[in-house]
Amino acid sequence: MTDRPRDRLPRVIGHRGAAGHAPENTLAGIRKAAELGAQWVEFDTMLSRDGHVILFHDDALKRITGARGLTADTDLADLQRLDAGAWFGREFKGEPIPTLDQALALLAELGLGANVEIKPTPGREAETGRAVAQALAERWPADLPPPLISSFKTEALVAAREAATGIERALLVFKVPKDWRAQLEGLACTALHCRAEDLTSTAAADVTGAGFFLRCYTVNEPLRAKALFAWGVDGVVSDYPDRLLSM
Ligand code: G3P
Ligand code: MG
Repeated sequence: MTDRPRDRLPRVIGHRGAAGHAPENTLAGIRKAAELGAQWVEFDTMLSRDGHVILFHDDALKRITGARGLTADTDLADLQRLDAGAWFGREFKGEPIPTLDQALALLAELGLGANVEIKPTPGREAETGRAVAQALAERWPADLPPPLISSFKTEALVAAREAATGIERALLVFKVPKDWRAQLEGLACTALHCRAEDLTSTAAADVTGAGFFLRCYTVNEPLRAKALFAWGVDGVVSDYPDRLLSM
């Protein structure tokens, strides 16, 4: 058993801002997470066609904005004309797709930490990893706790590491893979982020026992969070951070 330092991230992290309460990956969602008492948020980042880092989850624009086409085929100026809030509720009508820089300014205003997920469109893994890490290295607000990068895409994590060695990284997976340790060590990641439903107590003990941090997504039920924490899970990402913060 390797001793681990105490996790610097809080136990509860808002998912895509606070996706149960406000449209995901928007400034309104980040504000909502802070309002609900979250200290950190997770959000997804990808590239516009012209290479700007934006907050968005899907390869296609349809679900969130109603527009046709692919996010990666659309320039920033056109993405910023779309409505990323109305699908969620009338009160969010007109909420735009934010750039990473806009999100960083808001994090600074609110004093929030962030787990920045790199969510590259297929074929742009390294480019996205590099762009996100460079932006964070250059423009992460000095007063905030250092960010945590995560990705399902190992190519993005490798590129992020090359662009900004000092930024902590986590590997995202669904189920804990057999070779989790080799992957974490090879990528120099400090943490594994896995799907809560796919985790077993044995895998949790293995990962934390080896000195890595283990966090789970997406956990919306307080009892489930409690059980995961009892297995040694360090943190959970939740659409409803308020439910878990009040446990
Ligand atoms: O980072 C945890 C979680 O956000 C990963 O899945 O699809 O919600 O980005 P997804
Ligand atoms: Mg995500």
